[in-house]
Amino acid sequence: MTDDHYQVTLGSSTRVRDDLRDVTDLTAVDWTFEGWNTQQHTHGLHPYPARMIPQIVRALLGYYENQGVISPGDLVYDPFSGSGTTSVEARLAGYDTKANDINPLAAFLTLAKARPLPVDRLEAFRRDLMGDLAVELRAVRERYAAGDGFEELEEPEVREGWFPQPQLYELCTIRDRIDELEATWDGEHAADLARFFRVALSRTTRETSYQRNGEYKRYLIPESNRGDHDPNVYELFDREVSANVDMMRSYAERVDHERSSEVYLADSRTAADVATDSVDIVITSPPYGDHSTTVAYGEFSQDPAIVAWERTYDEMRNVDKIGLGGSARKLEPLETLEEWSPSLEATLDVLREKDGRAEDALEFFTDYYAVMEQVARVLKPGHPIAWVVANRTMSRVNIPTHLITTELCERIGFDHQHTLAREIPNKKLPLENAPENTPGVTGELMANENIVVMTAPDD
Ligand SMILES: C[S@@+](CC[C@H](N)C(=O)[O-])C[C@H]1O[C@@H](n2cnc3c(N)ncnc32)[C@H](O)[C@@H]1O
Repeated sequence: MTDDHYQVTLGSSTRVRDDLRDVTDLTAVDWTFEGWNTQQHTHGLHPYPARMIPQIVRALLGYYENQGVISPGDLVYDPFSGSGTTSVEARLAGYDTKANDINPLAAFLTLAKARPLPVDRLEAFRRDLMGDLAVELRAVRERYAAGDGFEELEEPEVREGWFPQPQLYELCTIRDRIDELEATWDGEHAADLARFFRVALSRTTRETSYQRNGEYKRYLIPESNRGDHDPNVYELFDREVSANVDMMRSYAERVDHERSSEVYLADSRTAADVATDSVDIVITSPPYGDHSTTVAYGEFSQDPAIVAWERTYDEMRNVDKIGLGGSARKLEPLETLEEWSPSLEATLDVLREKDGRAEDALEFFTDYYAVMEQVARVLKPGHPIAWVVANRTMSRVNIPTHLITTELCERIGFDHQHTLAREIPNKKLPLENAPENTPGVTGELMANENIVVMTAPDD
């Protein structure tokens, strides 16, 4: 199936429609979207763990447009932006966007992907950046081979032993060239252009490091296998730049450059930058649990953000601690959540019998509840929110996040509309892990998702 068609299965009959913007019945859509292209336009600029499927956003926007609830020019908000799938898809459909994330890499990626760039400026920046880069990087390698020092290059705070040399010096040389071009660029869009090329550097950084491919946690390639890992930084970077420029070209041709995309590096439990009753629709996928025992977004982002985006080691190490349910969270666990959500109460009871993970679960849902309250504040009364949630396990106990989400939101005054089930056919997630952290013991972490659709309280 291509991206131009989708199948709606109604009873035994299957209809193919021209695009996802004519959805009239949410329960008739196959939300799994298996086989669809999820990397189109700027969606494919950079990997990110647990990305949302763009078609989910497209279908929801189409449906609510058909219902007359929203229309192009309205504001779409995502409190858990990640790599910005909601923002990109909403811009493609003609909307303004706002997004929040506590991970600096996520905030930069969202901006880089959602803000269209003028193609002539992009090409001009690329010419200046790539011009004699191959020659400069060759000189770096020659100096390294001759035993010269690189005092003029500020070494990033990456951990000892995670990068081959002289490749790390080559990455720093590209970083400095982008910095210099940004500072001296004659004309508009300097920061947006520089950010765009840092995405290619970020990806190149990851491919250059000794981190094992396909892993979202930081696992090193074993020392015995590192002989084969001698990446050509120029070739990798040049390839990423070419692919990214093509993606941006196709995106920039399709979106209205007059619309706006804002992204905040902020905690969605407070969402201070988003005004009360200002948002027309929220489409979001929250983390499945605390980052450390589910998806370690900070670990994934650490080296790329330090090298390409010049973030500090401490800031990046903090991301997994300040995410929902993390160890550095500040909210007191809210005991009353159990009264408000029978599904949470039942889950905590089982966890209490098993071991001490009930406290961890309560801390996570306390944080998540604070985000629900903020969403109720920023969403216009009666307007829709879609929570795309996965049900993880803790200590082999299934956590019914879709039910808990529904019950806690209802407590705040949201109206439940639908819970739409979907499988996750190709999402890069740890489907198996060791919940008890016992080596060799594995268990199913998450295998399907639910889209919980609700409308905001009326007053
Ligand atoms: C499932 S991912 C979102 C993926 C995104 N929909 C995409 O397509 O890339 C969840 C995100 O929530 C972010 N996050 C966790 N706690 C947060 C908080 N308190 N405030 C804002 N973002 C948070 C994580 O950093 C992560 O990027």
